[in-house]
Amino acid sequence: MARPNETPIPSAVIIGGCGFLGTAITHALLSKHPSCKITAADIRSPSTHPSHPNITYATVDITSLSSITTLLETTRPAVVFHTASPVHGLGREIYFKVNVDGTRNVVTACQTAGVKVLVYTSSAGVVYDGSALVNVDERHPFPAVPYDAYNESKAIGETTALAANNTGATRMLTTALRPAGIFGPGDRQLVPGFITVVKNNQTRFQLGDNTNMFDFTYIDNLAVAHLLAASVLLHQHATTGATTDKTVDQRRHVDGTAMFITNGQPVYFWDFAKAIWCHYGVYNAGSVVLPATLAYGVAAVAEAVSWCLRREPGFTRFRVKFSCSHRYFDIRKAKELLGYEAEVSLSEGLRRCIEWFRAEGEKK
Ligand SMILES: *[C@@H]1O[C@H](CO)[C@@H](O)[C@H](O)[C@H]1NC(C)=O
Ligand SMILES: *[C@@H]1O[C@H](CO)[C@@H](O)[C@H](O)[C@H]1NC(C)=O
Ligand SMILES: *[C@@H]1O[C@H](CO)[C@@H](O)[C@H](O)[C@H]1NC(C)=O
Ligand SMILES: *[C@@H]1O[C@H](CO)[C@@H](O)[C@H](O)[C@H]1NC(C)=O
Repeated sequence: MARPNETPIPSAVIIGGCGFLGTAITHALLSKHPSCKITAADIRSPSTHPSHPNITYATVDITSLSSITTLLETTRPAVVFHTASPVHGLGREIYFKVNVDGTRNVVTACQTAGVKVLVYTSSAGVVYDGSALVNVDERHPFPAVPYDAYNESKAIGETTALAANNTGATRMLTTALRPAGIFGPGDRQLVPGFITVVKNNQTRFQLGDNTNMFDFTYIDNLAVAHLLAASVLLHQHATTGATTDKTVDQRRHVDGTAMFITNGQPVYFWDFAKAIWCHYGVYNAGSVVLPATLAYGVAAVAEAVSWCLRREPGFTRFRVKFSCSHRYFDIRKAKELLGYEAEVSLSEGLRRCIEWFRAEGEKK
């Protein structure tokens, strides 16, 4: 008998299947669950996608209940990975439409279609209240006052997915994964931001004394965590029936609870930046250290100036806060309950990522 986290996944629908994470999950499924029937569903079909006998591509709009219901009723998957989320910067309305209303539609459609396991991709940002996060685990509450609309909408989406645990025709089991600092080939946000600093010749500036620790997650590790979660829940679904235990210890359950996922290698923020910059031949980064309080003041002035000039500020108090405070998580729960370990280290992940960016740059 296979270990719970090796239970085969017979069929899966990946919502957001052509996105950054969805593509990584598809590849991980092909290699670790070769007999899985995969449906990669996305709002629009990708311009190029690998053709494979066990992958079907579908278009789906989760803001439409009938669209997602039709997809799940025709595919009838054992597992649904819900990875779809709008990119940052699109505004409150779209975040809520996709992350809140969309997730409610996904849950309803899963319940009707008899899905056994739903894995929701949440975000470590759901617990962010603007202050430092020091080795935070799953007992850390959501902020009393939401910090920003994106994270607020992700928290509501997560709550919706978890509340659906033990519901529906087949008593579906649900879980949520909360990654922090996702990066890898295809990344459009994190690593490109650091590369821009090189292009702007600004690598000599370091904000703060670089004693704040940060967590990052290589994309393929996160994909594997999704598969482990699905396998553990499928195993549980097959072996135990429903319980009415309402006093579950959140730290001991995968079902109906959330888990932080990172590389499990917190590093000093500027060390990560410098590791990227080394790949671009910059070895003397951070020679000018601006104390955090001074940088904060400078950012306030820069924001005021940009406001007067009606320009988008490049250097903001938010950025200073972002790069000067601790943000790292305790992932023991995922290690213990899923058997999760980062297979790709930070340095190897960065190497693969930069290689990809170089190749992309050459294509242009
Ligand atoms: C596709 O899945 C079937 C079982 O469902 C498996 O036997 C077959 O090897 C898979 N094909 C490929 C190319 O992986
Ligand atoms: C959400 O929270 C994270 C902290 O983990 C923060 O970095 C991010 O800027 C917040 N907001 C958005 C829009 O992502
Ligand atoms: C970057 O900045 C340094 C220091 O001001 C300067 O010496 C150098 O010429 C600049 N390089 C480019 C490419 O602008
Ligand atoms: C999720 O559902 C299962 C039974 O199907 C139950 O054992 C478990 O306690 C539930 N989890 C939570 C957090 O309520």
